[in-house]
Amino acid sequence: MSVGWWTLFAAAFAAGFLFFHGFAATDTAPNYSFVHNATSAPTVSYYDYIVVGGGTAGCPLVATLSQKATVLLLERGGSPYGNPNITKMTRFGAALSDLSRSSPSQRFISEDGVINSRARVLGGGSCLNAGFYTRASTDFVKQAGWDGRLVNESYQWVEKLVAFEPPLGQWQSAVRDGLLEAGVLPFNGFTYDHIYGTKVGGTIFDQQGFRHTAADLLEYANPSGLTVLLHASVHKILFAVEGRKKPKARGVVFRDARGAKHKAYLKKGSKNEIIISAGALGSPQLLMLSGVGPAEHLKSHNIRLVLEQPRVGQGMSDNPMNAVFIPSPIPVEVSLIQVVGITRFGSYIEAAGGENFAGGASAPSMFSPEAITEAVEYRNNLQEAALRGGFIIEKVTGPISTGHLELRTRNPNDNPSVTFNYFKDSRDLQRCVQGIQTIEKIVESKPFSKFRYDFLSWPVLLNMTANAPLNLLPKHYNPSMPLEVYCKDTVMTIWHYHGGCQVGKVVDHDYKVLGVDSLRVIDGSTFSVSPGTNPQATVMMLGRYMGVKILRERVAN
Ligand SMILES: Cc1cc2nc3c(=O)[nH]c(=O)nc-3n(C[C@H](O)[C@H](O)[C@H](O)COP(=O)(O)OP(=O)(O)OC[C@H]3O[C@@H](n4cnc5c(N)ncnc54)[C@H](O)[C@@H]3O)c2cc1C
Ligand SMILES: *[C@@H]1O[C@H](CO)[C@@H](O)[C@H](O)[C@H]1NC(C)=O
Ligand SMILES: *[C@@H]1O[C@H](CO)[C@@H](O)[C@H](O)[C@H]1NC(C)=O
Ligand SMILES: *[C@@H]1O[C@H](CO)[C@@H](O)[C@H](O)[C@H]1NC(C)=O
Ligand SMILES: *[C@@H]1O[C@H](CO)[C@@H](O)[C@H](O)[C@H]1NC(C)=O
Ligand SMILES: *[C@@H]1O[C@H](CO)[C@@H](O)[C@H](O)[C@H]1NC(C)=O
Repeated sequence: MSVGWWTLFAAAFAAGFLFFHGFAATDTAPNYSFVHNATSAPTVSYYDYIVVGGGTAGCPLVATLSQKATVLLLERGGSPYGNPNITKMTRFGAALSDLSRSSPSQRFISEDGVINSRARVLGGGSCLNAGFYTRASTDFVKQAGWDGRLVNESYQWVEKLVAFEPPLGQWQSAVRDGLLEAGVLPFNGFTYDHIYGTKVGGTIFDQQGFRHTAADLLEYANPSGLTVLLHASVHKILFAVEGRKKPKARGVVFRDARGAKHKAYLKKGSKNEIIISAGALGSPQLLMLSGVGPAEHLKSHNIRLVLEQPRVGQGMSDNPMNAVFIPSPIPVEVSLIQVVGITRFGSYIEAAGGENFAGGASAPSMFSPEAITEAVEYRNNLQEAALRGGFIIEKVTGPISTGHLELRTRNPNDNPSVTFNYFKDSRDLQRCVQGIQTIEKIVESKPFSKFRYDFLSWPVLLNMTANAPLNLLPKHYNPSMPLEVYCKDTVMTIWHYHGGCQVGKVVDHDYKVLGVDSLRVIDGSTFSVSPGTNPQATVMMLGRYMGVKILRERVAN
């Protein structure tokens, strides 16, 4: 009986909660007629384009392709809509620390001992990330060989729906002014552009703190051209091999949430293609599972070789992130990244603050299950007041150090093994040291003084952060040691990992997989350097940009 009352009470409470707090005007789920559960999909189906991965690149890509062709998008995760862990800025960290099978994030720990996350939801990383929105530099665009005008049009197409100017609070303003006093000049105001100096960047959180994601770009789609299947895990790409000079991608095998197997094939037509947009981990993993990769490695997993391609999974990089936590005597507004310093020595300075960020779920979200107990103890041992404050972080550009990815199992839902080799190249370490020195200047600056305690000197601040369980690496640092040790000991991820299917190595400049026909890879796995200070703007832009180019090729004859 009492269980019944409880249920009733809980339901009434939940309904009231949703009614009064859940769905502001900015949080209404769009009514996409083309999104379905994969369990309802036919056993066999046919399309002009089949895209694997409804992430940051995949969504703008299919929204564009659907204008002139029939398109199937297969996403292994569910819908982002209606989940406050995704839609609300203050819940950054909740999604990252949700380790359930239905979580929009899948935790992985690199062989380096750094705790990391990858997306498993429609909208991909744009549903989990810190929201900072900023374009790539014009140099990056030039070096990529992209058409600058189409690039700008594609950025604008994205920005119209998902990019906003952030409301700058006192703490972020102090970081901005501290950066200027530290000499990261000039001040470039609010801009999406990547230029030396200090700026306020864009964000995918609107003024009410609601997240807008790559899934929102599906509003541009032609509903009669697009089918999106959720909870659809692609297990492999099928190739036609017999009597051909090159293997040709012809279909995919995917499984729904009940484990039932489905196949989707390309319709007849020389322009039809399969496009992999499964992210920096998912794309090289799926190529290998489909028989395209290093021969010996595939053999050791009993995968039949379609094409020997030793560079699949090579060139994996993750930009090291190092942070300093600064407790504040006065309240700090809750903010994710808004201000950035773009230095000339190759590191970017960013900041996130607020009681929520420091004391809430997000700090331990970086921790492994084993480390969480330790993290909780650490937090309980801090003074209540010390939980107020924020992090100033620096990200090393590039980076120059690279690693590799290997399969662990033949199940696409399992994480592959990834090694990033943080700071293997001493130039990365030097950039980190200079970044930390710049953070010191910000912390010691006049504009920042009201947000720090006098008695917590710079060495004490470093020592405090270095003793927090930020990663699974052994600790050596004490304040008498050089900053190189601090950088290595406190390395974390800023989740901008990339590579694995790099342009010029695995795909050509049109993102076509080398050595096979009718197959491209379009996402963050194709970068050899992370674009802009943060990549998502360029990943979304690339989805739109390549969609437009592919359609142009389709109608041209
Ligand atoms: C916590 C966090 C914070 C970040 N902060 C920022 C930030 O503030 N600003 C910024 O610019 N960038 C940020 N980033 C980075 C940015 O979000 C990513 O670089 C970007 O989202 C990568 O896009 P992608 O399209 O390459 O991959 P994803 O967006 O990860 O898309 C890949 C999709 O493929 C799906 N998939 C994979 N394998 C399969 C399969 N076999 N079958 C079916 N589907 C599959 C996945 O579920 C996923 O949805 C952050 C990332 C994270 C995780
Ligand atoms: C969504 O669209 C469908 C089909 O157009 C319609 O039947 C349904 O009522 C709509 N739902 C909402 C919540 O608007
Ligand atoms: C899809 O179907 C599966 C199996 O019936 C179910 O577990 C899952 O919750 C469904 N997902 C959605 C979003 O409806
Ligand atoms: C939000 O995250 C928390 C833990 O981080 C989890 O317990 C909860 O189930 C999540 N909510 C949803 C709607 O997924
Ligand atoms: C694209 O826009 C940037 C500013 O965001 C500008 O500097 C650049 O010249 C533009 N490129 C082209 C080809 O128009
Ligand atoms: C550094 O922190 C550790 C752990 O909190 C503490 O034992 C040590 O005394 C600190 N050292 C300095 C120099 O502050």
